[in-house]
Amino acid sequence: MADLDQTLAVALKGYAWLPDLRRRAHGGPVRTRIMGQPAVGICGPSAARFFYADGNLERHTALPALMVRTLFGVGAVHTLDGGPHRLRKLLFTHLLLGDGIDTLAKLAGEAFDEAAEGWRGDNPVVLFDEVARIIARAVTRWVGVPVADSEVNALARDLVAMADGFATVGPRAARALAARQRQERRFSKIISTVRETEASPEPLSVVAHHTDEYGLLNPRTAAVELLNIIRPTTAVAWFVAFAAHALDRWPRHVSRLRDDDEYTRAFVHELRRFYPFAPFLGGRATRDLFFQGEPIPAGTLVLLDIYGQHHDPALWEDPYAFRPDRFLGREIGDFDLIPQGGGDPRTGHRCPGEKVTIAVLGTLVQRLARLNYYLPPQNPDIDLSRIPARPRSGIEIVVP
Ligand code: HEM
Repeated sequence: MADLDQTLAVALKGYAWLPDLRRRAHGGPVRTRIMGQPAVGICGPSAARFFYADGNLERHTALPALMVRTLFGVGAVHTLDGGPHRLRKLLFTHLLLGDGIDTLAKLAGEAFDEAAEGWRGDNPVVLFDEVARIIARAVTRWVGVPVADSEVNALARDLVAMADGFATVGPRAARALAARQRQERRFSKIISTVRETEASPEPLSVVAHHTDEYGLLNPRTAAVELLNIIRPTTAVAWFVAFAAHALDRWPRHVSRLRDDDEYTRAFVHELRRFYPFAPFLGGRATRDLFFQGEPIPAGTLVLLDIYGQHHDPALWEDPYAFRPDRFLGREIGDFDLIPQGGGDPRTGHRCPGEKVTIAVLGTLVQRLARLNYYLPPQNPDIDLSRIPARPRSGIEIVVP
């Protein structure tokens, strides 16, 4: 089975595909084929260290074209290697690892309060959709492109579509492609206008005036990168829906979340460990390599099993139990908890938005814990064969 091309198996098995293959190889590196190419699946903190070691792997030849054209955008930082990557990455680390994060989290909290006013009554609202709009509103205010109330719905729908359609062919991919076309066009125009204006708000002006080795980015690429701040921030809505799912299953956490910031942080880490988001990451070996005695010839795709690492009993006691306490008072190593990649976000490909994610998610989880609501009958199950997964109902809530 491992010798056959596994592209279809990924589509059918989703998050379980790589962990299953690895189990058959007794947990070590496992050889397979995907998208017609030889690949090896690896897992664990030492695998993550190997995956992110400077010069081992490249990205620009490893990312599927559909993923680039839906999720990241052509020319995005995700698709760069070496010097051009480091230069482009500065744009993100400058904006996303500094003081602005608290402002963004505060804006998200305020947008939640504004929206929650309108939820009261007997009719259920879909939390996932509401929170996607809340975050889209907050992050566009934060970057300096406020969006009119009448436009927030359409924008949030497009941002969700881009993240929802990257791993499939068919209608979800078609929706993602159309959404990206629309929003890249819109934000390219905004970038061009900003370049003609004397003063404009940060971070918008920082993105508009960022230069690479050839000078200013073309407006379309700048729009791609602006969207690479706005889109993934909106994707935090997935984790808010997971939080509501967790609080429904294990309501004992609610009271501590209301005012205990340290517990909220631990809860947020446990959400990002326990629930599925990115199943695995891929890079291509730039030279002949060895990992745990296994030769990895140049050109092989290397897949880092994120979901497997987060559910490995050798790393996490009782990994299928949702236990925020495991993160209380614990230092997290750069390669232990990797829902947003591993290593140093300044030099490697690790997500530069991790601090933003933790701050925005923490704020919204606390708001949710303080809200008086209940779940009417619905199907909140999470189908692990669907990438990205989310509760089927989107979590309907009634706020009496
Ligand atoms: C739902 C929360 C998020 C998750 C699960 C997530 C996950 C990830 C993952 C798995 C990667 C790839 C790491 C790699 O290739 O090694 C990544 C990269 C990236 N993320 Fe996030 N992310 C999230 C939120 C954010 C936010 C809030 C931002 C920006 C505000 C952001 C911006 C980026 C960018 C620009 C990259 C590309 C980095 C590079 O290639 O150097 N992400 N993210």
